[in-house]
Amino acid sequence: MGALDGKVAVITGSTRGIGLGIAEAYAREGAELVISSRSPAAVNEAVKRLREAGGKAAGLACDVAQQEQVSALADFAVQSFGKVDIWFNNAGLETAYGPTMSYSAEDFNRVVQTNIMGVYYGSQVALQRFLPRRAGKLINMVGRGYQGPVPYQNAYAASKAWVFSFTRSLAQEYAGSGVGIFNFSPGLVVTDMVTRFDVIEGHEHRLKVFPAVVRILGRKPDYPALKAVWAASSATDGKTGLLINSFSYRVALEGLMREAMRLLTRRPAETPEIHMRSIPPVA
Ligand SMILES: NC(=O)c1ccc[n+]([C@@H]2O[C@H](COP(=O)([O-])OP(=O)(O)OC[C@H]3O[C@@H](n4cnc5c(N)ncnc54)[C@H](OP(=O)(O)O)[C@@H]3O)[C@@H](O)[C@H]2O)c1
Repeated sequence: MGALDGKVAVITGSTRGIGLGIAEAYAREGAELVISSRSPAAVNEAVKRLREAGGKAAGLACDVAQQEQVSALADFAVQSFGKVDIWFNNAGLETAYGPTMSYSAEDFNRVVQTNIMGVYYGSQVALQRFLPRRAGKLINMVGRGYQGPVPYQNAYAASKAWVFSFTRSLAQEYAGSGVGIFNFSPGLVVTDMVTRFDVIEGHEHRLKVFPAVVRILGRKPDYPALKAVWAASSATDGKTGLLINSFSYRVALEGLMREAMRLLTRRPAETPEIHMRSIPPVA
C-alpha cells in the first residue's frame, strides 16, 4: 500500500530538479502523475523515466505564465486520469543575481509571470475542481525570501513572499471547505537553479561562500520529496494553512557534522559543480 494510492497529482515544473524528485516519490507511493514544464521534449523524457520505473504518468507542456495553458493542463489531467486530487505549484525561476537596478523590466516580469501569476492560475484551476468535491490538496512552493528581504535576489525573494502570503490567505478564506492549502519550503536543494545561474558583473564576490553553503546544507531532490509525500497524504487530511518545511536544524547540524568529519579526516571537499555566468548589467 502506498501513501498516495488512487490519487492523481499534477506537478508544474516537474521535468527536473525538485519537481521531478517529488513526481518520482509520488509515483512510488502509488499516485498517477501529470508531468509538465515548458519543454515538450523534457516532458516526454520525464514521463518515459517515470513509466520505466513502473509509475503511471502522462505529460503536457505547459508554461505556467500562460493562463490558458494552465487551464489546459488541468483539463488534460482529468481527461487522462478522471480527476485531480493534488495540485503542486512547483515551477519557478529567478533573475540573475545582482542589484535590482541592474536587470531589465523584462527579466523582472518573467519572474512575476511564472512565480506569482503561475501560482495564481494553478491555484485557481485546482480550487475550481477541489471546492465542489470538498477535497483535494493544493501545495504552493515558497523559497528564499518568503520570510523577509533578500538583497541581490529581490525579484525572486519578493515573489516567494507573495506566494507565502497568498497561500495563507487562501487557506483562511477556504478553511472548513475540506481542501488542504499549504506552503511548502524545500530547504536548499542541489538543482540547476542553484548550480547554473547568472551573476551581474562585479557581484561575483558576494557568492564566494555559496559553494561551501551548497556543500554543507544542500540536499538532493529526493529529500524534500519525502516531506512532499507527507504533505499530500492522508496525514494532512482536515488540516490547512500549514507551512511544510523540509529544512530543519537537524539538516543543518548533520551538514555541519559531515563537514567537521571531513576536515578532521582531511578528506577533499566534494562540492557540487557550480556554473556562474557573469553578465553585464542590462538596466
Ligand atoms: N533549489 C532550491 O534550493 C530551492 C529552494 C527553495 C525553493 N525552490 C523552489 O522550488 C521550485 C523548483 O526549483 P528547482 O530548484 O527544482 O528548479 P529547476 O531545477 O530550475 O527546475 C525548475 C522546473 O520548473 C520548470 N519551469 C520553469 N519555468 C517554468 C514555467 N514558466 N512554466 C512551467 N515550468 C517552468 C523547469 O522546466 P522548463 O525550464 O523546461 O520549463 C523545471 O522543470 C521553484 O519554485 C524554486 O523557486 C528551490
